[in-house]
Amino acid sequence: MNTSPLFPKVKGLLHGGDYNPEQWLDRPDILEEDVRLMKQAGVNTVTLGVFSWSVYEPVEGEYHFEWLRKIMDRLYENGIYTILATPSGARPAWLDAAYPEATRTSMKRIKNLHGLRHNHCITSPAYRKLVKKMDERLAEEFGSHPGLILWHISNELGGECACDLCAEKFREYLRARYHGDIQELNRAWWTTFWSHRFNDFSQIDPPVAHGEKSIHGLNLDWKRFTTVNTRDFLEAEMAVFREKTPDIPITTNFMHLYAALDYNQMAKPLDVISWDSYPRYGNPDVSLYDCSVENAFDHVTMRSFKKDRPFMMMESVPSLVNWHEYNKPKRPGVHRITALQAIACGSDTVQYFQWRKSRGSFEQYHGAVLDHLGRSDTRVFRDVEEVGRILKSVGEVAGSVVKAKAAILFDWDNRWAIEDAAAFSNKTKKYEQTCIQLFGLFVKNGVEVDLISSEESFGDYRMIVAPMLYLLKPGVAERMKKFVEGGGQLLSTYITGYVDQSTLCYLGGFPGDGLTELFGLYTEEIDTLYPKEQNAAAFLEESPIQGTYRIRDYCEIVKPLTASVLAVYNDDFYRGTPVVTAHSYGAGKAYYAAARLEEAGMEAIFRQMWQDAGLETKALPPGVEFHRRIKQGAAYDFYLNYSDEEQTVEPGTAVDLITGKAVRGKAVLPPLGVMVCRVQP
Ligand code: GLA
Ligand code: ZN
Repeated sequence: MNTSPLFPKVKGLLHGGDYNPEQWLDRPDILEEDVRLMKQAGVNTVTLGVFSWSVYEPVEGEYHFEWLRKIMDRLYENGIYTILATPSGARPAWLDAAYPEATRTSMKRIKNLHGLRHNHCITSPAYRKLVKKMDERLAEEFGSHPGLILWHISNELGGECACDLCAEKFREYLRARYHGDIQELNRAWWTTFWSHRFNDFSQIDPPVAHGEKSIHGLNLDWKRFTTVNTRDFLEAEMAVFREKTPDIPITTNFMHLYAALDYNQMAKPLDVISWDSYPRYGNPDVSLYDCSVENAFDHVTMRSFKKDRPFMMMESVPSLVNWHEYNKPKRPGVHRITALQAIACGSDTVQYFQWRKSRGSFEQYHGAVLDHLGRSDTRVFRDVEEVGRILKSVGEVAGSVVKAKAAILFDWDNRWAIEDAAAFSNKTKKYEQTCIQLFGLFVKNGVEVDLISSEESFGDYRMIVAPMLYLLKPGVAERMKKFVEGGGQLLSTYITGYVDQSTLCYLGGFPGDGLTELFGLYTEEIDTLYPKEQNAAAFLEESPIQGTYRIRDYCEIVKPLTASVLAVYNDDFYRGTPVVTAHSYGAGKAYYAAARLEEAGMEAIFRQMWQDAGLETKALPPGVEFHRRIKQGAAYDFYLNYSDEEQTVEPGTAVDLITGKAVRGKAVLPPLGVMVCRVQP
């Protein structure tokens, strides 16, 4: 049986999740039962210690780890490995009473009181010191435990703090960024506007709710600083384990596309990426397929942070959560297909929040493998058991990765800058949704695609889509040119290259920084449409792409220089002017879609690009998602049928690892059916 290179001790894929035995220490019968049922469910890994601080250290300096050792030992004897979290996600009451600086200050500049979680000032030296002490103790106590496979730093790091300590650290960050020169900052932030010039860094405050929020450069730098400071906190925790247990890998769990931290930066120091997946399945307005494409976008974002290794789905739920607007259990079959979707996208784990429902407090109704009912003959438990069985039978995929030859640029600085721009329409900017929608076209056509920041290398790709790349970081335009020059197929859209990294507009035409030359055009105006309005893009007879496609939300009026016009607007005063263009540049081609075309229109352009890039598409039936994972000498094709009808797929000559049966040519997938096929690479 193969193992994931991340976890050489564990055979195959990881199955398990958050386990909080500290809530049940007075119920040894329940703790015994847990281990028995974990084995029954095919659980081979649990995450311990998330939020255990007040049990580890009930009063300052008095540590209690015996209970954890007992549990880790017993789990290990039963073949269950431990991911051990540091408890810094929530603090005991004594800590806040003794060290009030540890508590967070909101962006209203109001100091929070004790309570909740993720309620700390990550700058606070007192808090950092106590966390360090705790981490040192954990490393000493458990670093050499044979059951330990991974450190899990804190939990879902996030949020921002506007206390005096954080404000001062922000000023330090700005001093370094602007070389101690306040005039450099004034220029970058364009502070002469509204007379906002600063004479000294000490005059600058975070963009708090009742303070300065009108300077885009300030807002953006604050977000950057929050990421830098949070990463610094993460790395400070990591340093303890790097020193004391250099062989144990380290992760922290991310939250979807969490907007407040640049996960590209947060990902860098980690050994493995993990994230918590809670899609809103069961909403009658969103098909299971559409909901799953969104979830795939998150999976692929995570996988793309470290393309050379699998990632982890650290949390998911076999039934329902307690924090959606409407909390619906997963319908029969949905757990299986979504668990395998994670694997298909490159995860080596299916883990849950949580193993057993809490009896009280805030998450007592959040789904878990085991209910308050306590029985293992429930639908949910059986679903988990089934997933456990399937993960065993497909275990050989562990360690394999997805290889994509196309990428979509998805960039946090850009998200922040577009969001903050006082322009366009706040209702329809929809940067994330636009990226997800274009990603969906790749999924629909069975083309693997990475989701990368604009700072990452474009080297290995043949096609890049850069939707709404409003902010251009230094060097990005140049690399886009090189990419196309070298034979790449590139597509950019409306709202590209308006500002530089400080949010200063480019002069002399958008898209700026030399991109007018790459696309062979410039933008003169942008028309923001009301929801009732639409336009259309009509492809010209001589264009290789054909058809007329609806346009909503945004229409840029562009002036071609050297670009060839593929489609023109159908309506309004700019009727007949270019809306889709292509520009041969070196050995490649740069496409510009100056308006928000309906999906079919973008798909028509992509078809041409896939063909020119030499990327193979797959004829997939409606509602079927496909992925391929590869490792030395083997390839695994995943087919996931989200539709409520049977669908025929064509795996060719393969072995279905779930059934163990040989497949030749076509195969029929029942509704919610999944196939994991070993094929010749
Ligand atoms: C997050 C947290 C968990 C739990 C779940 C509930 O992912 O990490 O502790 O609160 O949400 O869905
Ligand atoms: Zn603070």
